[in-house]
Amino acid sequence: MRTIKIGLLGFGNVGSGAYALLNANLEDIQRKVGALVEVKRVVVRDTSKARPVAYDPALLTTDVEAVLGDPEIDVVCELIGGVDPAHEYVLRALRAGKQVVSANKELIAKEGESILREAQSHSCDFLFEGAVAGGIPIILPMKSSLAGNRVDQVKGIVNGTTNYILSKMTLEGAEYSDVLAEAQRLGYAEADPTSDVEGFDAQYKIAILSSIAFTSRVSVEDVYVEGITRVSQSDIRYARDLGYVIKLLAVGTRSGTDCVQVRVHPALIPQRHPLASVNDAFNAIFLRGDAVGDVMFYGRGAGMMPTGSAVVGDLIDTCRNLVHGCTGRIACTCYESRKVLPIDDLVTKYYLRISVSDCPGTLAAIAGVLGANGVSIESVRADAHDKAEAVWVTHAVREANMRAAIEQMEVLPEVYSVENWIRVEE
Ligand code: HSE
Repeated sequence: MRTIKIGLLGFGNVGSGAYALLNANLEDIQRKVGALVEVKRVVVRDTSKARPVAYDPALLTTDVEAVLGDPEIDVVCELIGGVDPAHEYVLRALRAGKQVVSANKELIAKEGESILREAQSHSCDFLFEGAVAGGIPIILPMKSSLAGNRVDQVKGIVNGTTNYILSKMTLEGAEYSDVLAEAQRLGYAEADPTSDVEGFDAQYKIAILSSIAFTSRVSVEDVYVEGITRVSQSDIRYARDLGYVIKLLAVGTRSGTDCVQVRVHPALIPQRHPLASVNDAFNAIFLRGDAVGDVMFYGRGAGMMPTGSAVVGDLIDTCRNLVHGCTGRIACTCYESRKVLPIDDLVTKYYLRISVSDCPGTLAAIAGVLGANGVSIESVRADAHDKAEAVWVTHAVREANMRAAIEQMEVLPEVYSVENWIRVEE
């Protein structure tokens, strides 16, 4: 029986998880593949570092050539993260005719085009299920099982850290800074949480998901991004009173025949929406196809074993393709070129929390500014939790109009400040 040899680049959390899973279920995996499967070398920066799994120390090397330059290695598994030097390593592996599996969202979001072009020209696989939402299968389902559909929308909760923070704020009434500090203490949030709380992690993921969903490359810089740092306990309570929960949503939407809109921001979503009950560090992706209708994928979006599961799934797929001589089957699916609309063109409802004076005419003055900018009001609550605040929900309106109204409101003598405004996703 043939032996397929794998080289791992990186042996951190995900690398260790994938390695442990491969070994734990090796017999079954080999039967599923129809070949023997062996991890031949593992490239690391520091061979003396403690690892969370049992392994043969002879596998470890600091020399990347032990994988990239070894003609016996059929599959390279890139788990080092970041763009440099991962990009160069992946391109070299593909040029050498090796199959590549990666869980590197930043690399794929920024360099997916060049990598997939290289993979295609060598008829190699480049698989990256672990790059988005950890253990949740979504890349291959979109490229394969759902490929018959025209996808109109893909949206989800794709960052576990921010979902943990917002869930705690919602379920326990805690303030943002307290929950963040607790999450850092428990290891759910990084010491530097910027990439998660400012939405950058979700920005990479929705760029990848939208590129696949709409068969057109969406660059990271085309994704509008706003994090959760301005969401307060007041917003969460007002949202609940209005029948909503606040989530950090990543949304890609098809717009007309040749445009898309892609964004990451906190959003009020109706309590009855399936995404509203996705709590703690869980992720979920909700997709609407013209044939399948609504589908939702739910699970653990990060962690050693969930992401290891996605990586091993890709390894099994590429090993099967090697056995059957059909690598490179699923090429780049970005065969169209759609314009990405600016956030000003978004049409949605808005929630506004405004700190106001208690004088007669205050609400009328605010309503006047909204009306003058074409913003129609669905509801207003001036008797809300805090008497000096008024909470407004608008009807759907273009974001450019909303921004103009907010600018004008901020200079009204009756308005102390526009404390927050959050998009409402129906
Ligand atoms: N930091 C990410 C999250 C996991 O909180 O979901 C890795 O993408």
